[in-house]
Amino acid sequence: MDGGIRIDPWSSSQSTDYQRIIDQFGLSSLDSLDLPSPSMLHRRKIVFAHRDLDVILRAKSKENSFGVLTGLMPSGRMHLGHKMVIDQVKWFQDLGADVTIAVADLEAHATRGLSLDECRKNALQEYISNYSAMGLDPEKTSIYFQSERPIVQRIGFTLGKKTNLSEMESIYGFNGETNLAHVQAPLVQVGDIVHPMLDEYGGLRPIVVPVGVDQDPHLRLTRGLTSKSNWFNLKSGKKGGLNISLSIQDDNSQSLGVSPDGKLNRKVRDDLFSKLVEKLTHIGFSDFIKNPKHGTLSIPSATNSDYDDVKRVLLTFERSMGGLGFLQPASTYHKFAVGMTGDKMSSSKPNSTIFLTDELKDIQKKIKSAFSGGKSTIEEHRRYGGNPDVDVAYQYLMYFFEDDDQVLKELNEGYRSGKILAGEMKDICIEKASSWMKSHQEIKDQNSHLINDFLI
Ligand code: TRP
Repeated sequence: MDGGIRIDPWSSSQSTDYQRIIDQFGLSSLDSLDLPSPSMLHRRKIVFAHRDLDVILRAKSKENSFGVLTGLMPSGRMHLGHKMVIDQVKWFQDLGADVTIAVADLEAHATRGLSLDECRKNALQEYISNYSAMGLDPEKTSIYFQSERPIVQRIGFTLGKKTNLSEMESIYGFNGETNLAHVQAPLVQVGDIVHPMLDEYGGLRPIVVPVGVDQDPHLRLTRGLTSKSNWFNLKSGKKGGLNISLSIQDDNSQSLGVSPDGKLNRKVRDDLFSKLVEKLTHIGFSDFIKNPKHGTLSIPSATNSDYDDVKRVLLTFERSMGGLGFLQPASTYHKFAVGMTGDKMSSSKPNSTIFLTDELKDIQKKIKSAFSGGKSTIEEHRRYGGNPDVDVAYQYLMYFFEDDDQVLKELNEGYRSGKILAGEMKDICIEKASSWMKSHQEIKDQNSHLINDFLI
């Protein structure tokens, strides 16, 4: 690759050149969207990019249903990095989304070498037990284990027909040495992401996947496979209008009017087009340019704001004929907080992060010895100021513990100007982190009986 970034979801090092990631992978910046009640993660651009989040916001504003799905590998202890994902899930739940969370036990088994039993134990004790304390409503949240929902594996298998090893190589950097369970894991994740759209799991509706940007390869794969599996392509026309074209595939060619000998079956094709026109007439269109022979149909009077409705008609029609009818998932991406030691946060390096089961004295110790952006002497610090951009205590206040933007701004300015010393910033962080953790653990204890409600 010509110096391009490769994102490896399983690697312990990730690029933090977020603008380049946006440009290279075609993400959309979050700046252009007007979010309803943005959380501190949005306000601070920690959640910095998305794909198709506008589809979700339009569904919300039209009071249509939408869902949120994410997943976590139960590979160790839940830490602050994982908390960011759940905070975003909670934000979508407050906007009205139904919530599904995958416990990625198959993935952890394939890529981290944990047994499924260990995964179950970790998931219950270390992860799910925290969710209600983080505000998720157990009545409106469904958590499942990948190994116990065979349908996600089945979808991965079915959609797997639409990709091949070269594509897996170019997305993930897999090679001849890669074990096959590892190759399967992303396909299971594809199944995770799309299965809430099945009728048994809530039916056709937009699904948004909040994740760390390291997970974007899975979204690229899923979006590619869903769009390749669609029976109808939908595109905005160059001169306005919306254009529909048939996507003939092995498993739909007869329904779309191609005979086994490859010839056009005019009767089936004409019939298909009349039905399609009828469905589109139902949602208010009357003017069409049809070319059944070429398999195209244009709606000149449609505008981009009709896109979602037309897409829904097409997917519903596809389903009625036996297709999967999956919409491409939307996604949001968060940046990574620095590890407390100055490099990456990781559950395998206990001093690099705060675990949700840490005791207050551990938290104090970790913050005290965290990487600081202060100068080496007080005199220098007073004179030149510190750098909050690399100061772990400041960064953790910004990412996790200080909700008030004004207070944060004062801390930032005070630090830069040298008024606030590195040790003082740490003390403030310790105080905030401890009070957050105390209340988190209290609510967690009170709600421990709710764990099973999440699993239904
Ligand atoms: N791969 C994710 C991780 O590394 C876990 C995961 C599994 C996931 N299925 C998912 C994330 C579906 C988002 C959506 O933690």
